[in-house]
Amino acid sequence: MSLFLSSIMTLLTLLLLALSGCSSEVVNDFTHTCPQFFANPGGTLSPPTVFKGNNYKQICQILNNIPEYATLYDTANRIPVYSAYKFQGRKGGDRQGNWYIEPQLEDKGPQMASESNVKHINNQAVNADYKGTSTHHFVKGHLAPVLHATSQSCANATFTLTNAAPQNDKFNNGEWKKIENAVAKTLEKQCKGNSAYIVTGVVPGPDKLNNRVNIPGHFWTAYCCLDNNLKEKASGAFIGENKNVPVKEMSVKELDRKLSDEYGKVFRVFGSKCN
Ligand SMILES: *[C@@H]1O[C@H](CO)[C@@H](O)[C@H](O)[C@H]1NC(C)=O
Repeated sequence: MSLFLSSIMTLLTLLLLALSGCSSEVVNDFTHTCPQFFANPGGTLSPPTVFKGNNYKQICQILNNIPEYATLYDTANRIPVYSAYKFQGRKGGDRQGNWYIEPQLEDKGPQMASESNVKHINNQAVNADYKGTSTHHFVKGHLAPVLHATSQSCANATFTLTNAAPQNDKFNNGEWKKIENAVAKTLEKQCKGNSAYIVTGVVPGPDKLNNRVNIPGHFWTAYCCLDNNLKEKASGAFIGENKNVPVKEMSVKELDRKLSDEYGKVFRVFGSKCN
């Protein structure tokens, strides 16, 4: 009898521990905090795949209390997986020189801040990681770019290290810049007056910058245009190696396949839609 009771007690204790473990875990879901940056074909929110694992953090990118876009960040590689945003035409925002970091990733929050304001930064890249471009040729390559920013405040908000990854400097200013321009031009032509969603990401590579920050092997981007009835109207995708050679154009479906291969797990840019 006492053995029976103690087994029951053990079970109850385990159950309580499991329950408290669950309820204390804060899961930040960027489709709740930042839904406006994700395509909703047919009225269904269709965010890119969110990889499982404690190293993947969902960030609603907020500056001066305004959410500007969303990012999935990989704290193990210290680079983003992707940034997702809405494109509303080229507004010509200026580049500002200060790069922010993300206090949320160090359990401080809740919006981007200057590096000097946060102590003990471990889970993300810092400015010093990128120093010495003259010897290694990698610069902070924007995922959500200044060129696609919807306002000056949005342009400022793209300058966070959680929205950047080491990019070959010639690629950054050459073939990749061409793609940022080409996507903007296509959407201004084919998606005028409608809703254009863009997701831009990277695939980790074998090397690290400053022994800390993964140097991506590839940069990729995809767009999805929805008409006013939320029907898919136009879509397309690009992926290129992290060097200054021409980038390949393909369908969203082909990019999904290529990225699933590269990541070694299933990945869908627009939740199997927009292709
Ligand atoms: C953008 O950043 C610059 C430099 O920090 C600042 O002077 C300017 O006020 C910012 N603009 C907006 C709209 O936040």
